[in-house]
Amino acid sequence: MKANKLTAAITAVGGYVPPDVLSNKDLESIIETSDAWITSRTGIQERRILKQGASSDMGVAVLKELCEKSGTSMLDIDLVIVGTITPDYIFPSNANVICDKAGAKNAWGFDLGAACSGFLYALSVGSQFIETGKYKKVAVIGMDKMSSIVDYQDRNTCVIFGDGAAGVLLEPNAEGFGVQDFDLYSDGKGRELLYQPAGGSLMPPSEDTVKNRLHYLKQDGKTVFKHAVTNMGDATIKLMQKHNLSAETLDWFVPHQANMRIIDAVADYANFPKEKIMINIARYGNTTAATLPLCFWDYENQLKKGDKVVLAAFGGGFTWGAVYLTWAY
Ligand code: COA
Repeated sequence: MKANKLTAAITAVGGYVPPDVLSNKDLESIIETSDAWITSRTGIQERRILKQGASSDMGVAVLKELCEKSGTSMLDIDLVIVGTITPDYIFPSNANVICDKAGAKNAWGFDLGAACSGFLYALSVGSQFIETGKYKKVAVIGMDKMSSIVDYQDRNTCVIFGDGAAGVLLEPNAEGFGVQDFDLYSDGKGRELLYQPAGGSLMPPSEDTVKNRLHYLKQDGKTVFKHAVTNMGDATIKLMQKHNLSAETLDWFVPHQANMRIIDAVADYANFPKEKIMINIARYGNTTAATLPLCFWDYENQLKKGDKVVLAAFGGGFTWGAVYLTWAY
């Protein structure tokens, strides 16, 4: 625990998943696949799809829940950091849009594009603004409307992803609870193994990019799988060793929800018992930047003050890392 120093504690958790469910059975009528294949290869049974509205709408719901739960006035929010790869626009940022729609008139904010590591990166950045004493209320939100960039003709990818948003409020804590440490990494050599080829400055939108379906997410699943297991596992173990944590002394491991087989492999790698791992992939699939805070949202009732928690993620870029925090309430 960090002593005599302000720490950035999570004081509220908010989440939003759209009501519309896309089940494995539903996918059977769209592409050549089966419930059995998807369940056994990914652990996913259904995902949510945002049929109406934009990703910012999910973020607004999250920010409102954070304020309600913590008894915070929207006008007291200082900063909103959004991890996303599916903002409403390329610019302005979703943070900008969310602050306007939610009435966070005194906040500024920015988006952070680190794909599935977006929440980890954003949480680490947000905690710095609290630790320095600059701000008192920082909202960190991970959100993605993956259905807006997923190709429902590509069975290799469309079964994996879903839509959702969740986030946390960070506030200064004098008892030492909150974010303790983080190790973040990136390796741009992986940039074309999981990406959205067109729409940026390299390949601006054209008739050809649309015809060739290049505005949709592409992935080399097998290579991504291998990197996800070893990089998430290594980052987790390194951070735990640094803080003298073991599978016994850690209370919760929160892995990015990409594939149940990845979660199982990382758990084996780090020797975690199943009951200490937050898992909700069956119901939401991979919601990219939203998976980690959605785990907090689902497990909030089981978390206790002082619980030692390690989060780990891996995503497009490649980006990956781990965060160690202690629960503050
Ligand atoms: N339904 C049925 N069959 C499918 C299918 C689907 N939805 N998707 C792929 N297949 C087929 C493939 O075409 C292949 O058939 P073939 O052998 O005739 O070519 C076969 O299943 C095996 O494909 P493979 O790619 O080897 O499957 P896999 O076990 O590697 O699982 C992923 C595919 C995508 C689920 C897996 O690689 C994965 O999870 N990768 C990481 C994804 C991820 O986590 N991304 C986000 C990271 S942040």
